[in-house]
Amino acid sequence: MPKRSKSSDRWLRRQRKDHFARQAREGGQVSRAHFKLEQIDQRFGLLKSGMRVLELGAAPGGWTHYIQSRIGQGMIIAVDPLPVTAGVDTHVIEGCAGDAETDAQIAGLLADKLLHLVLSDMAPNLSGVRAVDQARSMDLADTALRSCERWLAPQGAMAIKAFQGEGLDGWVKALRDVFERVTMTKPKASRNESREVFVVAQGFSVEALG
Ligand SMILES: C[S@@+](CC[C@H](N)C(=O)[O-])C[C@H]1O[C@@H](n2cnc3c(N)ncnc32)[C@H](O)[C@@H]1O
Repeated sequence: MPKRSKSSDRWLRRQRKDHFARQAREGGQVSRAHFKLEQIDQRFGLLKSGMRVLELGAAPGGWTHYIQSRIGQGMIIAVDPLPVTAGVDTHVIEGCAGDAETDAQIAGLLADKLLHLVLSDMAPNLSGVRAVDQARSMDLADTALRSCERWLAPQGAMAIKAFQGEGLDGWVKALRDVFERVTMTKPKASRNESREVFVVAQGFSVEALG
């Protein structure tokens, strides 16, 4: 196959970006991010009817709508400091993941029940300084992992956004001690030029936490 020129690569990337943005507009989705979760779910079979799901970084609500369409009578707790567009069945917490007040609200809603799935599309405010942004992204990944340690049921799963860069490989390696299967994936709807990847971890083992 002939090698593509840089300009045709750029053109193809733009086309793909436009494709998902247009699909979101035409399909009435809240955001093109919807398609990232849909593609991850189709590959890993994460969402099932009746599940209890914690969604971190939910605004404006693209993932939330997709989750609602998949879990039926299940439970969604959606967390973001920004407004989330969601159906009446979704429990929206306006706050930051990891804050004591947010954690108290999650605990109150769960009332001793455990989660089947923790999802995070949290993204830091970008400073433009790569090392700083990478550290912030790893902090958000740690925050999502702490939610798993606290509320995830045995054999539960997690899917979180992270940035490729310093610290991620070691973090993923450590995750393999507490989850049976850990995979890094980049769905087609994620822009090629972005360092964003998703870490999908399945088969949570509470015993491994010690
Ligand atoms: C890429 S957007 C999420 C898009 C969303 N998944 C959708 O489909 O519409 C990232 C979100 O992460 C949120 N965020 C960043 N830090 C957070 C934190 N500590 N706790 C909760 N949300 C956070 C931001 O406010 C932002 O709304």
